[in-house]
Amino acid sequence: MTIDKKQFLFLLGSARTDGNTEELSRQAASSLSDDVKQVWLRLSDHPLPPFEDIRHHETRKYSVTSEHERTVLDATLAATDIVIASPVYWYNVSASIKLYLDHWSAWMRLDGVDFKKRMAGKNLWAITTFSDDDPAGAQPLVDCLRLTAEYMKMHWSGVLLGYGNRPGDVLDHPDSLNHAVAFFEVNGKG
Ligand SMILES: Cc1cc2nc3c(=O)[nH]c(=O)nc-3n(C[C@H](O)[C@H](O)[C@H](O)COP(=O)(O)O)c2cc1C
Repeated sequence: MTIDKKQFLFLLGSARTDGNTEELSRQAASSLSDDVKQVWLRLSDHPLPPFEDIRHHETRKYSVTSEHERTVLDATLAATDIVIASPVYWYNVSASIKLYLDHWSAWMRLDGVDFKKRMAGKNLWAITTFSDDDPAGAQPLVDCLRLTAEYMKMHWSGVLLGYGNRPGDVLDHPDSLNHAVAFFEVNGKG
């Protein structure tokens, strides 16, 4: 019997490169074993088209309209584990991650893809950084992703919260780093 290899997709959704969320994600990923395949995509390198709600249109149907969309869709379907790496922007996920999630609604309606069925059972993780003193400000982001996982019948694997404002801040925050190193191991046991 062959056991499917674990494949982690890290979707980076910050509006800058090499910021705290990316750094924290790299710290967390360093604990994954070598037999776990890692795929890293920056949504800023793969901008998705604007989302259109044509669900109830009489003649129009959804299709994949760009290479970037195809890349992100294929990586999403191939992953066993999807890691949303988004900073807290206005208490929630960044605009590029929100757009990515909106596209799930389109991808569910693509002919021949069976998106919702294939997403069911995958693990959804979140890695985020924020700058407020009170981590409660990240709660809408957590709830958004947890409820999305529930809707999609995915397994919600939890959130790694890191503290930082300027790039590199998170590396000077021992609590964030300690949690990062243990994140996939501790939350993966559930
Ligand atoms: C548009 C925008 C909105 C933000 N909103 C929040 C917020 O609601 N709560 C918070 O704690 N930090 C907020 N921040 C600060 C970022 O979460 C923080 O700087 C984070 O480290 C940025 O992540 P990055 O370094 O990975 O880009 C915001 C930053 C930006 C640019």
